[in-house]
Formats: sequence, C-alpha cells, structure tokens
Amino acid sequence: MKIAVLPGDGIGPEIVAEALKVLKVLDLKFDVEAAPVGGAAYDAHGHPLPEATLKLAKASDAILFGAVGDWKYDKLERHLRPEQALLGLRKHLGLFANLRPAICYEQLTHASSLKPELVAGLDILIVRELTGDIYFGQPRGRRSSPDGAFAGAEEAFDTMRYSRPEIERIAHVAFDAARKRNKHVTSVDKANVLETSQLWKDVLTEVGKQYADVTLDHMYVDNAAMQLVKNPKFFDVVVTGNMFGDILSDEAAMLTGSIGMLPSASLNAGKQGLYEPSHGSAPDIAGKGVANPLATILSAAMMLRYSLQQAEAADRIESAVQSVLAQGLRTADIHSEGTTKVGTRAMGDAVVAAI
Ligand code: NAI
Ligand code: MG
Repeated sequence: MKIAVLPGDGIGPEIVAEALKVLKVLDLKFDVEAAPVGGAAYDAHGHPLPEATLKLAKASDAILFGAVGDWKYDKLERHLRPEQALLGLRKHLGLFANLRPAICYEQLTHASSLKPELVAGLDILIVRELTGDIYFGQPRGRRSSPDGAFAGAEEAFDTMRYSRPEIERIAHVAFDAARKRNKHVTSVDKANVLETSQLWKDVLTEVGKQYADVTLDHMYVDNAAMQLVKNPKFFDVVVTGNMFGDILSDEAAMLTGSIGMLPSASLNAGKQGLYEPSHGSAPDIAGKGVANPLATILSAAMMLRYSLQQAEAADRIESAVQSVLAQGLRTADIHSEGTTKVGTRAMGDAVVAAI
C-alpha cells in the first residue's frame, strides 16, 4: 500500500506532520511519499499540480492532503491558483463521493453555536456528490443576452446537470454508509423547482428499494438548511448534489464547534481516496504552531478505514482523539476555561501517547 502525502500551504505542513506521527506509531506497513501541491508547488515548479505530483497521486492507494491557498496567490490566473490542484486531483482521480462526518464530541458540546442539548451526541454524515452539478456542467460562460427583457445586456450562465449513473453511484455510497450507521438516509434536493433534482429524487427512490433495511426520506434544500439548525439530530446520512452539499456540509460543520475537528474523505469508484481536513490553509495562524491537527489526524483515520482496510487502526486513532479531549487538552480554537491549552505538536504528541 502506498500513501501520497501532499502537505500544501499555510498550516498544511504543520498538521500533516502530526498525522504522519500518528500513522507511524501504529506501525502499519505502507510506503509514504511526499510531493508539493498548491502554492508551494507553484513556487517550486510554476504549477499548483505538477505532473510528478499527479503521477504520484494516481499511483497511490490514498492521498493525505493538508490544505492549499494563500492570499498572495490571489492575483494569479485562475488555472494557476492553488485550489486548482484540488479540483484537478478530484477530476483526474474521479473522486465523486465526498464524505464529511459532523460529530459533536461530548467534551466540545459547549463549543457549538447551538444549545448543548440540540447537539449533544450529534453524529451526521454528509455525502456530497463532488464531480458533477452546476460546478462542472457545460455550457457556461458570459455573453450578450440573446432574448428576454434584458436582451443585449451582459449575462452569465452555468448549467446544472446530472446523469442517472452519476446519481446512482453516489446513492449507493450513501445507502452503504447508512447500513453501517443508523440506517436513515435523507436525500436533499429542490425537486419542486429543478429538473435535475426531479431525476435525483427518482433515482434515489429506485436505488433505495435495494436497501429495504434503510429508511429514505426526501427534503427540499431550503428546509434541510433550516432543520440542520432546528433539529440536527433528525439526520443520520444526508446525500445531496455538489452545490447543495457544499453549503450544507459547511453548515453542519459549524454545528460541532470548530472546523479544526472535521475530517473528510473523497472517494472514487475503486477504494482510492483523498483525505483532508475540512478547513483551509489558515494563513492567519500558519507557522505559529497553534493550528488544531485533529481534523487531519481524523482524516488519516478515515483513510485507514476507507482506502487501506485498517478499520481497527482507524478506531484506535478515533479513541485516542476522544481520550486527549477527555484529558482536557485543547488547541486555541477549541480552548475554554478549565481546559489546558496546547500547541499543534503537543496535541499530536498527546494522540500518539494515547495510542
Ligand atoms: P480557513 O479554513 O483556512 O480558515 C478559516 C478560519 O478558521 C481562520 O480563522 C483559521 O485560522 C481557522 N482555522 C482553520 N483551520 C484551523 C485549524 N486546524 N486550527 C485552528 N484554526 C483553524 O478558511 P479561509 O480563511 O477562508 O481560507 C484560507 C485559505 O485556505 C484560502 O486561500 C482558501 O482558498 C484556502 N482554502 C483551502 C481549502 C482546501 O485546501 N481544501 C478549503 C478552504 C479554503
Ligand atoms: Mg465549502
């Protein structure tokens, strides 16, 4: 088994180093090879996703990714920007299924913006389709409006688009995941307005018939946004398209307190996956040794579970994280009175010690 390690920019290298420390202490057998990505790769090679990095990623069973981006690259042309590396990896590796667990750890219940009783024990899995929808649909562009009340005015347009097989495969990911959890899938769409959503709903219903043990319900996206803050524990697995998922997964993330705690996995049709924290490169705290490495460490646990068939090792990491939280150790983003503030390295060391 081979892991490609792409630390990237900002806090990326700091948090990835902690995850690697944790993987090392588990003493599993796999090769690890690092490569530059994002702004770091642009600086070194003139491109955010150099050929050699892409080649390494393709040849690996899993990719452990830090984060990319920095304000200093804002003026670059779009195709040279750091975030293009992530879009490129998703596209080239066919990473269509984005899994984002939003778990509210018992010790961090107070860190949520919602009342503790609403989030205590919260454990949601957002399954977001990642390679289709309005983000990739063609045609798109700008033009002079050909008709209507604003004919001749400048207009811009995107195309929302989903095919049946694209919906089927993400539906299976969601139902399979629900089977291992609380057997409840909520499919989120806007079928009262959108043609793509109507197809989405039809396909989810059909695929759902193959999973008689899983309850399926459908919810409009506007209601889902509301229910996530009103009664979040209603949800078990939420499956939705690329754009709705982008927004709802960030909303669900905030229910749990800190983005520094949230891992993610992006999987393709094989077992290959890219694992990264849900947050970005946090340039405001980069190099200060204060970033929370737990989201990345938990992403490494997801990597062991989904791509490397090491579920037991994944459990060990997750229990170790619970244990350091129970010891009262907190990085600055989750620190509160009565707990012990630690830096990035000390947090990683504590997880290693707990394992
Ligand atoms: P961000 O997630 O990097 O930071 C938002 C806020 O959360 C900041 O105050 C930051 O200090 C804090 N934060 C994030 N991760 C943290 C951690 N592990 N521990 C403690 N605090 C943490 O999002 P922002 O500021 O919007 O973007 C910064 C850069 O990151 C941009 O260049 C953006 O494009 C990029 N980005 C990259 C992503 C990726 O690589 N997947 C995802 C999101 C943003
Ligand atoms: Mg987002």
